[in-house]
Amino acid sequence: MIIFYLKEAYEDNYKKKRKVGRIMGFKKDFIWGAATASYQVEGAAYKDGKGLNIWDVYCKQPGNVFEDQNGDVACNQYELYKEDVQLMKELNIKAYRFSINWARIIPEGTTAFGGTVNEAGIDYYNRLIDELIANGIEPFITLYHWDLPYELQVKGGWLNDQIVDWFAEYATLIAKRFGDRVKNYFTVNEPEVFLGLGYREGTHAPGLKLGDREFMRCVHNMLKAHGAAVRALRANCPQPVKIGMAPTGAFCYPETESPEDIAAAKEAMFAMDKNPTGAIWNFALVCDPVMLGHYPDSAIENFKDVMPEITEEDMKLISEPVDFFGFNLYNGVMTKMGKDGKPERVKRYDGFPKTAIQWPVTPEAIRWATKFLYERYGKPIYITENGMSCHDWVALDGKVHDPNRIDFYHRYLIELKKSAEEGTDIEGYFAWSLMDNFEWTNGYHDRFGIIYVDYPTQKRIVKDSGYWYRDMIAENGENL
Ligand code: GAL
Repeated sequence: MIIFYLKEAYEDNYKKKRKVGRIMGFKKDFIWGAATASYQVEGAAYKDGKGLNIWDVYCKQPGNVFEDQNGDVACNQYELYKEDVQLMKELNIKAYRFSINWARIIPEGTTAFGGTVNEAGIDYYNRLIDELIANGIEPFITLYHWDLPYELQVKGGWLNDQIVDWFAEYATLIAKRFGDRVKNYFTVNEPEVFLGLGYREGTHAPGLKLGDREFMRCVHNMLKAHGAAVRALRANCPQPVKIGMAPTGAFCYPETESPEDIAAAKEAMFAMDKNPTGAIWNFALVCDPVMLGHYPDSAIENFKDVMPEITEEDMKLISEPVDFFGFNLYNGVMTKMGKDGKPERVKRYDGFPKTAIQWPVTPEAIRWATKFLYERYGKPIYITENGMSCHDWVALDGKVHDPNRIDFYHRYLIELKKSAEEGTDIEGYFAWSLMDNFEWTNGYHDRFGIIYVDYPTQKRIVKDSGYWYRDMIAENGENL
């Protein structure tokens, strides 16, 4: 009964707000999706002519990954994709964000040195794309989710200026083979992580610890490669397509809604570290060049001695117009205006809520990040990843109960909805992840899925959160 009255009151309120023209809730055609990445779910690491990539190699080095696990089999989506698409359909998922395993379609990464295109790999993605479309699910392709072909790494990987051409060739192939059906693309996923951890801190594949000059060169090459891929996709897809990036960074949100705290959070979010190790996490370093056509002045100042030569032509390429601004968000840092007029980080209270992987739960971050990033870059927004790891297991009743995850999604989506109602143009949201998968250096230790995967049998079980997501999608978030 109470529920009934609440719903009535809600609907009444809804109609009133619509009448006075205020935006209410999510857009009608909002894209509710789920995401994965090739190395994390596909498996079939040595099947059908696929080449090696840097994660195949990195995982085999003892000590790099939790219990020396690897993605050789992962969720075996390579063979089980039909089952996974059926599960997506059951859960009302409108879009699937997946990545292409570069070495699966071009085993050596490029044909420049005699390499070839692997037709068996192309066939796999054609089957997956067709299956998605046949079931009413929109494919969203990420070109690069960290699994660089090993043969390109041997040539220097992101440090080699030629990667711009290699990436453009790869993007052209994707456009030519999948572009007749796939309308949405993300170029690179979290360059902050694959460069910051992979090339600077040495804790992700390929495990390098580059100096400042080499590292900044990788950053610049990555940005140029992104631009070259945008051009290649537009030039070679036989239909108009939409393109963006999927970066991440250090998100800041205000302690209170006072103008001072809001200004402090915004300032902190786009501030620039003096050291490249920190600066790579500053949104402005990666995103200003792409979205605004120039590096932030503070970056030019801080890194003038170690930046590669930057030409006008480079900046034109890097800022080739994109259609939307995507980003992955898991948590943020509460910030306030300090007494000295400078932003100050607010210490988290003892016992602050944390996920199983020990990341703080900070739903407000999604409201403020979308607002700040929309204000700065003015493009429609996609949340390309958001979700949490829990200590999931199959209960005695055969189900997977994950109330923490439901609460997490509920809280974050309430905040996202607020941002939409405050005028942020939000196009879509992808839950991370569709299913439990290989969580990089944490191996299979952390489960992020809304579908549980029993790795020994490859059996999938929809978690309670999966059903919750299904019902929330059915109402387009109006019940949040
Ligand atoms: C992101 C990454 C995903 C996934 C997720 C959860 O950084 O893009 O691949 O691992 O974190 O940790």
